[in-house]
Amino acid sequence: MPPTKRPQLVVLISGSGSNLQAFIDAIKSGTLNADITGVISNKAGVLGLDRAKKSGIATEVVDHRNFPDRTSFDQALANRIENYQPDLIILAGFMRILTSEFVDRFAGRIMNIHPSLLPKYPGLHTHQRAIEAGDSIAGATVHFVTGELDGGPAIIQAEVPIFPGDDADALASRILVQEHQIYPLAAQWFCEGKLSLKNGVPQLDNEPLPASGFSFS
Ligand code: GRF
Repeated sequence: MPPTKRPQLVVLISGSGSNLQAFIDAIKSGTLNADITGVISNKAGVLGLDRAKKSGIATEVVDHRNFPDRTSFDQALANRIENYQPDLIILAGFMRILTSEFVDRFAGRIMNIHPSLLPKYPGLHTHQRAIEAGDSIAGATVHFVTGELDGGPAIIQAEVPIFPGDDADALASRILVQEHQIYPLAAQWFCEGKLSLKNGVPQLDNEPLPASGFSFS
């Protein structure tokens, strides 16, 4: 019998790529049974590209500034992704809003991580907004991507405390530690066939997940 092919991932980044690194490390340690076949950034020169190269992963830059509009950028990006025939697309600090045409092309196969307890604080400056609101708890959410920004159904959430005197950087660092655990875990569930998106609802072991996703602790 031919060996079963390991699931293939493409990771999209725009920056430091610490979540990408968490995926690379999880694959190395065997907690994520998949391969990253390509990393695509919309920005040249970012640290995430160096992390990928160091691990021998193919990298590409598709600079959104070279395209007249969002639709043509997304088409080019989708074409580049399709060259890899990935099972799953991982948005890891990818700072572009994707068109619904893009999302539909890979329906149920795109995940994102967002540094808040969605549906609270979609968009930017989440840490500062949570602090300014006087929240005592913040966190991160892994979700399937739909056409709505940070609005797709939640897969898994992790909470962290907000301490008095925290600034946005301190809170972001605390949340990142959790991000690096829950994101590869969600991908592993998907890769082993435990997790899928059915009729817009994430199913884990054939049971619909609650609206806030699996609660990680
Ligand atoms: C993370 O906080 C992630 O939740 C958000 O962007 C940040 C990316 O960080 N979407 P990194 O590039 O993975 O270090």
